[in-house]
Amino acid sequence: MKIDVVLTPRLLPPNSGDAICVVIDVLRATTTVITALASGALEVHPFPTSTAARRGAESAGNIPFLLGGERKGLRIPGFHLGNSPLEYLDSGQISGRAIYFSTTNGTPALHRAFQSSNRPVYLGALVNLSAVSLAVAHAAMNNALRSIFLVCAGRHGKPSLEDLYCTGLLAQKLCSEFAASEMSPELSDTTLLATEYAGINRDKPLAMLTASEHGRYLQEIGFAADLEFASQIDKYDIVPRFDGERIIISS
Ligand code: MLT
Repeated sequence: MKIDVVLTPRLLPPNSGDAICVVIDVLRATTTVITALASGALEVHPFPTSTAARRGAESAGNIPFLLGGERKGLRIPGFHLGNSPLEYLDSGQISGRAIYFSTTNGTPALHRAFQSSNRPVYLGALVNLSAVSLAVAHAAMNNALRSIFLVCAGRHGKPSLEDLYCTGLLAQKLCSEFAASEMSPELSDTTLLATEYAGINRDKPLAMLTASEHGRYLQEIGFAADLEFASQIDKYDIVPRFDGERIIISS
């Protein structure tokens, strides 16, 4: 079993074969989707473009829906919600609805990971760290898979500090899960880098998010509270999965 941190989605092999992919976009797409589902959203449909999200919503039929997403961190004009997890906390507004969702890096990364592995893609963030590591370790062991790709959504095609940090913590938790079954996975160089960095900064999640390029940008445009929220480790005990069409909480 090999654990491989992928610093940006374009570094993910086009056909990752016998592998599980976990997509991580701490600021903010996977944090927001996990929050929406924890608030009772029925399902989330991720789209690489806002046009495709609008078109997707036209097929919602009788299911009540919301359009959510961002460009340059701000709500897409005409959409109901942006990409701040705080906008998805009100279960009165979110519960029972389908969310048609598009963001700059996170939703394209989900599609790239599904195309590469051709199996359900897990969503990870700091807010569901332990839950996703447990689910992924068990799925990998039960299916005798050869690789786990921890895919950083990154920022405009470049690596992002917050995603690297989260993958490091996740890889450490995965190693503990495998050790409990007397397995010691092989770690790629990027995984060793990520675990080393996460180990040094284990107790400083908010400081990591605040120091990152995207974290600084979000603070500049008024979303400092999103960093506080996204830095809460294990706030939720749910594991969403993307089946190529929609994201729901996996049993
Ligand atoms: C993304 O997917 O690009 C991010 O989540 C952007 C953001 O909302 O900050």
